[in-house]
Amino acid sequence: MIDVLLGLQWGDEGKGKIVDYFAPGYDVIARFQGGPNAGHTLYVDGKKTVLHQIPSGIFHEEKVNLIGNGVVLDPVTLKRECETVASFGVDYRKNLFISERTHLILPTHRAIDKASELAKGNDKIGSTLKGIGPAYMDKTGRNGLRVGDLLDKNFTTQYIRLRLKHQKMLESLNFHEDISAWEEEFFDALELLRQFNIVNGEYFINDKLRKGNKVLAEGAQGSMLDVDFGTFPFVTSSNTISAGVCTGLGVAPQQIREVFGVTKAYCTRVGSGPFPTELLDETGELIRNTGHEFGSTTGRPRRCGWIDLVALRFACMINGVTQIIMTKADVLDNLDTLNVCDKYLIDGRETDEVPFQMNRLQIEPVYRTFEGWKTDITGITAYDVMPGSMKAYIDYLDTALGVPVKYICNGPGREQIVVTGKNK
Ligand code: GDP
Ligand code: IMO
Ligand code: MG
Repeated sequence: MIDVLLGLQWGDEGKGKIVDYFAPGYDVIARFQGGPNAGHTLYVDGKKTVLHQIPSGIFHEEKVNLIGNGVVLDPVTLKRECETVASFGVDYRKNLFISERTHLILPTHRAIDKASELAKGNDKIGSTLKGIGPAYMDKTGRNGLRVGDLLDKNFTTQYIRLRLKHQKMLESLNFHEDISAWEEEFFDALELLRQFNIVNGEYFINDKLRKGNKVLAEGAQGSMLDVDFGTFPFVTSSNTISAGVCTGLGVAPQQIREVFGVTKAYCTRVGSGPFPTELLDETGELIRNTGHEFGSTTGRPRRCGWIDLVALRFACMINGVTQIIMTKADVLDNLDTLNVCDKYLIDGRETDEVPFQMNRLQIEPVYRTFEGWKTDITGITAYDVMPGSMKAYIDYLDTALGVPVKYICNGPGREQIVVTGKNK
C-alpha cells in the first residue's frame, strides 16, 4: 500500500515537516520526482535542517528511504546533504537507497539552466538553476546518464560524449563560464555515489509492497508547478501530481490508497509566473515576514497572497486528494480579516475553472471575506479549543473543496500539528 503526500500549490507548503511527522507510520519513504530544486525543511531535535535530494524520512533510523527513478540527482548536492545528515548521527549508508534508473544532473546541465534563463531575459522562469530542466530534457530526449551507468566501465566516455553536446548548446547560448571547478566536485561526489545502495528500484519497492510494507511517496514542488497541469511555461519539468508516483517509482495505480494534499492557509510562489491572488501590498509583506517566506533552496523572497480555491479545487481533482493538511495557520494569527478566492473574473465573466495560459489573461480574484481569529494559536494542541473564527474558515475550505481538512499546523515544530477530526 502506498500513501502519497504532495503540495497543492506552488511548492513550499510544508511537505518536509509533514513527511517527518508521518514517517513513524510507514516502512519506506520515497521521492518520486524533482531534484535539488526542492527544499524541505525539518526540525530535528529542535535544530532546523533542509533536505533537497534525500527523502524526509531519513531521520527515522529504521525506515528505508528511496530516491526513485523519477528523480533527477545531483551527486554534489547529495554528498553535501549526506554530510549534514551524518552530523545528526544518521548512518545514511544503511537506510538510503537509490534507483539505478535515476537520471544524473551533470555540471553542464546546471550551466545550460543558467544560460537559458539568461537568454530568456524578462521571460525567465525563475528556475532554481539546479539543472532540473536540462536534465529532464536529456531524459525525454534519450541522452541522459543514469545512476546505473556509473557502474559501467565506459561511464567516462559516455560522459564526455554528452558533455560535448552540451558544450555546443552552451556556445550557441553564448555561455563561456569556466565550469571546471564544478566538474571536479562532480567527479569527487561520484566516488561516494558509487558506494551507495544502488538498487533496481521498481523490483525493490514492489518486493517491499508484496511483503506488506507501507510506503509514503513524498512529492516535491507543487501541483501548480506540474509540467502538464501547472501554469506552463512557468513550471518545473516533472509530473508533481499523484500520477507521477507510478512512473517515478515503477508501481501500479491500484497500490495508491490515501493522497494527502498539503496547502498553506494562504498561498506563496517563488519565481516567475501567474499568481492571481498575489498581494503586492503591506498585507503581503506582513505574511512574508511573519511566515519567514524566503526560499529554502535559493533564499529568494516568496511572493505571498490569499488562498486560492479555484487552483486548490483543480489540484484536488487532478490528484484525487483524500485528505487535506493545512499548514502555517499561525502565520495569519494577527490579521483582522482574511480573504478566500472563490472564483476568477476573466473578461467580465466568472469562472471556477483554471484557464489555459493563465499568464496571458487578466484574472481578477473574486473574494469572500472572513473574520480573523486574532489569537496566538501556536500552543494549541486540540482542535476543540481553536478560535471559532478559525474553525469557520476551515469549515468553509472543507465544504468548498469537498475534501476534509484533517490536520492543521500551527508552527514549524514537529509537534505543532492538530488533528481536526473531520471526515468526509
Ligand atoms: P516544503 O518544500 O513543502 O517542504 O516546505 P519548505 O520547507 O520549503 O517551506 C515551509 C516552511 O514553513 C519551512 O520553513 C517550515 O519550517 C515552515 N513551516 C511548516 N509548517 C509550518 C507551520 O504550521 N507554521 C509555521 N509558522 N511555519 C511552518
Ligand atoms: P519544494 O519541493 C517552490 C519553482 C522555481 C521556478 C520553477 C522552475 O521545496 O516545494 P526549476 O528549478 O524546477 O526549473 O524551477 O519552479 N520551484 C519551486 N518553488 N518550491 C519548490 O520545491 C520548487 N522547485 C522549483 O522557483 O519558479
Ligand atoms: Mg520547499
